[in-house]
Amino acid sequence: MKASYLATRVVNLKPSGIRKFFDIVATMQDVISLGIGEPDFNTPEAITQAGVRSLQAGRTHYTSNAGLIELRQALSKHLYGLYGVEYDPVGEILISVGVSEALYLAMTALLNPGDEVIVPTPCFVAYQAEVVLAGGVAVELPCRAEDGFQINSQALRAAITPRTKAILLGFPNNPTGAVASREALLEVARIAEQHDLVVVSDELYDQLVYGVPHVCFPALPGMRQRTILLGGFSKNYAMTGWRIGFAAGPADLIKGLLRVHQYTIMSAPTPAQDAALEALLNGLPAVEEMRNEYNRRRQLIVSGLNRLGLTTVEPHGAFYAFPNISVTGLDEETFAGKLLEEERVAVVPGTAFGPGGEGFVRCSYATAYEKIEEALRRIERFTQRYG
Ligand SMILES: Cc1ncc(COP(=O)(O)O)c(C=O)c1O
Repeated sequence: MKASYLATRVVNLKPSGIRKFFDIVATMQDVISLGIGEPDFNTPEAITQAGVRSLQAGRTHYTSNAGLIELRQALSKHLYGLYGVEYDPVGEILISVGVSEALYLAMTALLNPGDEVIVPTPCFVAYQAEVVLAGGVAVELPCRAEDGFQINSQALRAAITPRTKAILLGFPNNPTGAVASREALLEVARIAEQHDLVVVSDELYDQLVYGVPHVCFPALPGMRQRTILLGGFSKNYAMTGWRIGFAAGPADLIKGLLRVHQYTIMSAPTPAQDAALEALLNGLPAVEEMRNEYNRRRQLIVSGLNRLGLTTVEPHGAFYAFPNISVTGLDEETFAGKLLEEERVAVVPGTAFGPGGEGFVRCSYATAYEKIEEALRRIERFTQRYG
């Protein structure tokens, strides 16, 4: 018998640094978790009811491969209204099982073996893995705190080789909370144009921005034709468990994604698509309410961490703060391990999100205000012992 029947590219995938940590958290009591990467809110009631009504009405069959046309039409209108970017609901939008699936589709549809994808880091843990699973090479491009975790255009230019096919953007960013500035994205656009690259832009947190605008990448001049926009419902509408996302882009590219989607997934769950439609039609007030509450917590955690000497670049998006913990003299793994063990507060080591995360941890504020207050008290005790 062979040592492993598994494919080498699968064996070589690193297990997610987040999962490893949370397996330990699950065995402990009285832990305040700032490790969570999803809204603590339940899905707004009207959206849930739309899903329930869908089930009760017997909408338990497949939809078309690309997804419910009503949902694609509503999404087209939504994106045009927010960002002025136009997609034909018939050939340019695909409803997926979360951005997770859309990422898989994009990488599988775009990459030939050995094609390189530039992945600015720190980033969502699946990016590099999706590139590798599709046979590509992930070229990591660390974004630095000194640059506000924005993409450094010089470093981006230096990372390009004749094999570069795409850039994979993730803003508002998980884990840094950075929102890409228009200037930084215009630089990326210029480089993409010069080198004829595809841009895959994961904008899952687009509506969770605080006091700054979200710039939709394909809305920048000339970018619509070379961008696959990924988005979804998990974070904005607190719908992680419904598993609905989308890809939008030029018809020839979306056709490629659809081909992979139809043979792997067939169609996203029908009642969840009905719920997502309700979210688009009537969900904005609920989003605003959640955004206001995240913002209150954001101010609490950012000022609290900075007060303790854990320097935190102000995060303007998503629901994460990314403090520098080097003042404690501990590396990020040791910091997270000891903080959990000694004070029962869970955070995620920055290196779980790739290079650039050294000396940082991710603290999610998708948890109750009072819990964040208590977590800060515990972290204060901890920092008094270290550093
Ligand atoms: C940046 C980013 N992209 C994609 C995902 C996956 O989202 P979905 O639930 O839409 O699959 C996450 C989840 O944490 C994320 O943070």
